[in-house]
Amino acid sequence: MEKREELYAGKAKSVFYTDDPERFVLVFRDDTSAFDGEKKEQLNRKGMVNNLFNGFIMEKLEAAGVPTHFEGVLSDTESLVKKLDMIPVECVVRNVSAGSLCRRLGVEEGQELTPPTYELFLKDDALHDPMVNESLAVSFNWANEAELARMKELTYKVNDVLKTLFDEAGMLLVDYKLEFGRSGSEIVLGDEFSPDGCRIWDKETRKKMDKDRFRQGLGDVIETYEEVGRRLGINFH
Ligand code: TMP
Ligand code: ASP
Repeated sequence: MEKREELYAGKAKSVFYTDDPERFVLVFRDDTSAFDGEKKEQLNRKGMVNNLFNGFIMEKLEAAGVPTHFEGVLSDTESLVKKLDMIPVECVVRNVSAGSLCRRLGVEEGQELTPPTYELFLKDDALHDPMVNESLAVSFNWANEAELARMKELTYKVNDVLKTLFDEAGMLLVDYKLEFGRSGSEIVLGDEFSPDGCRIWDKETRKKMDKDRFRQGLGDVIETYEEVGRRLGINFH
């Protein structure tokens, strides 16, 4: 497999072509962004930590029957993935209230949500990822009803797998965002799963162990990501 020219650079990752038209190399950079790109910083080791973290989680999900684009880690900061036709809708599940939910509804952070909530957001930084729903997604042709149903089913399945995984390591999976794409007729999990796109709290102390450390200027961002990984059994270099 040969890495070729860059196809696209996002806020934290870049995508490169390979000699196989069906496979891309995903490069995890040290760039860290929040508030739709308004706050940006380089955090040493972040690319490596998130790449290895993502690889570990994607393998767990794949083993549990969630189809993912992940094919394998290539280096500290690179992974091989399947090419997907990405759906521009972000799927968010929340087990505990935090973030935009609290701002929108005026509810207090830390409320247990039973059953967990499910929300859709349009992936569009310029519009600040507005909340949408299935009706809008179908009418604007972002995805059809069957695809949306499958995305919801898989997003909840991820919750079953990861809530337990984090719980057994002394952590609470508060919420997370997933992105899906099409591979032929199949809906497949794309993008990444790392502390950048979810909220994780220590079960006992409720210490924030995710990108809220960066958003809120709490410090020790990557050290804490590494602690999350170590508790799950990931070996960082
Ligand atoms: P929110 O509280 O800002 O709506 O985000 C809910 C969860 O989804 C949180 O863990 C962050 C993640 N998320 C992203 O990583 N990127 C996004 O664009 C959105 C909308 C959410
Ligand atoms: N992931 C989104 C961004 O980087 C939202 C956020 O983290 O605040 O803009």
